[in-house]
Amino acid sequence: MPGNLSLDNINARMRECKYDVRGEIYLAAVKRTQEGKEVIYTNVGNPHALGTQPITFGRQVLSLMMAPFLMEDPNIHNMFPSDAIARAKQYLKVMKGGLGAYTDSKGNPYVRQEIANFIERTSGVPSNPNNIFISNGASEVARMMIFSLIRGSNDGIMVPIPQYPLYSASIALYGGQLVPYYLDEEAGWSMNVAELEHSIHESRAKGICVRALVFINPGNPTGQCLSEQDLRSLITFCHKNSLVLIADEVYQENIYNSNRPFVGARAALSRCPEPVRSELELCSLHTVSKGAYGECGLRGGYMELHNIRDDVVDEMYKIAAINLCSNMPGQVALGIMVNPPQPGDESYPLYSQEKNAALESLKRRAVKITEAFNSLEGVTCQPTEGAMYSFPRIRLPANFLEVARSKNKAPDVLYCLELLDETGLSCVPGSGFKQKDGTFHLRTTILPHEDVFDDIVNRFRSFHENFMRRYGGQGVTRSRI
Ligand SMILES: Cc1ncc(COP(=O)(O)O)c(C=O)c1O
Repeated sequence: MPGNLSLDNINARMRECKYDVRGEIYLAAVKRTQEGKEVIYTNVGNPHALGTQPITFGRQVLSLMMAPFLMEDPNIHNMFPSDAIARAKQYLKVMKGGLGAYTDSKGNPYVRQEIANFIERTSGVPSNPNNIFISNGASEVARMMIFSLIRGSNDGIMVPIPQYPLYSASIALYGGQLVPYYLDEEAGWSMNVAELEHSIHESRAKGICVRALVFINPGNPTGQCLSEQDLRSLITFCHKNSLVLIADEVYQENIYNSNRPFVGARAALSRCPEPVRSELELCSLHTVSKGAYGECGLRGGYMELHNIRDDVVDEMYKIAAINLCSNMPGQVALGIMVNPPQPGDESYPLYSQEKNAALESLKRRAVKITEAFNSLEGVTCQPTEGAMYSFPRIRLPANFLEVARSKNKAPDVLYCLELLDETGLSCVPGSGFKQKDGTFHLRTTILPHEDVFDDIVNRFRSFHENFMRRYGGQGVTRSRI
């Protein structure tokens, strides 16, 4: 083998960077699949892979745009609703060259205007389409933002723990410091300002220049929704400490507790007093991968920059231009998501029925799995108020911790490996998201279809009961669902 590239001489940051959502358990699951054994991939929030059906209107518009010649067919009105045809024609008119052409590096201006209108509708404040960057999923723009903030190894970004590993991985890749702030599990994974203060002071004492704070609302993996009051505290904290706020709001449609509606950072900021309102630098993220659409494969996401200087936005534009532009089906999917059929449109009844059914079903699954986990010995689970995950804490028996130590494995990794081996369920150990030392968790999605959801819950239950018997727990559940 030639040796120009070896583990010793590739960029060391590649080796430091971890992405456990597709880590050891996932690789073991892939191997199991290759061996012809059953695997249920509950490791990634990938709704269509677990049976979610696409929203029809979006796919109709995309189909017509992929094959515009269909619109010449005299039977087209028997095959597609009139509003889907009209929308496809409208997009083709404003997208020179259709889906086969590059667009502006920030994304097609018409779609950016649709996004700006959506932001204005949902936050009550105007948005400038020139400050919107469309990308191949929210991950890409999140990475671009982190890249722009990290100048060297002294620069740090505050990240909630537990966190979605996009953040830890990107910070490692760009050579910065992850500055953790811990969410309070017992208080429903809430954040508190005393912890933020503690974290920033500790990091500054170590000489880290803290430049930004990320929050994920609703949380991944933790599922909590921030109240407006919490959001304002976060905003005030960032303003006071000159931090850019990165608001990861990709799960904003996935809300299951009517007492805790989603409040966007942009809306909360607009209700903050001056000078915070016009000074806090905010980057908000959204995507087509989540919500009722779940179109992860189309790779459509965006960031909106607010109160960020025009010359900085221009530099980001230059960097975005290195990739030319994001893929066009993803851009169109974004346009459709933020500008869906309206009452009175031919597609509206089906669209709203599909969307509501998808979100209501997720809500039922969120409740069911939380109750099931809480009924197991040694397991506590905060309710999933939003997003697509359940993140129970598992108190592992001392005997098992000893076995994990002897095998040189993190205990939650070993638990997930045994779970996979016995049940085919592929979850992510809590260590993949970071967790308070000495605590162990796992993350599972709530995405498997309702037809199989009870079976999955029962697999967890019988695995855990056997596990506790095997390793010295009492082997009894507190109550049944
Ligand atoms: C919190 C969070 N942010 C961002 C993303 C990335 O989404 P996208 O598919 O738009 O890149 C995910 C994906 O699971 C996520 O959970």
